[in-house]
Amino acid sequence: MGLREAQEQDVVIIDNLATGRRVNIEHLLDHPRVTFIEGSITDLDLLMETFPGADGIFHQAANRPGR
Ligand SMILES: NC(=O)c1ccc[n+]([C@@H]2O[C@H](COP(=O)([O-])OP(=O)(O)OC[C@H]3O[C@@H](n4cnc5c(N)ncnc54)[C@H](O)[C@@H]3O)[C@@H](O)[C@H]2O)c1
Repeated sequence: MGLREAQEQDVVIIDNLATGRRVNIEHLLDHPRVTFIEGSITDLDLLMETFPGADGIFHQAANRPGR
């Protein structure tokens, strides 16, 4: 699913902004079905709280040194 399908799906984005920048997704944040949470995917409590009942989870978080 691309973010374009967010018109029909609720999309939750988790990013700790370690290297990512909020400005890169600013255009998505006004969408009523898109939620942004600043947090880490290593935070199990956050994941358990956020994703019960999710149809899918797309893991794109990456820590790439030197980037
Ligand atoms: N960009 C490409 O062309 C490409 C090609 C093939 C595969 N990939 C893979 O896709 C994935 C994403 O690539 P990208 O180019 O979007 O990387 P990116 O570095 O642009 O984005 C990674 C994001 O992960 C976030 N992040 C890092 N640690 C986190 C954590 N613990 N919790 C939450 N968020 C965290 C960063 O803040 C950043 O926004 C990587 O695994 C990469 O290896 C990328």
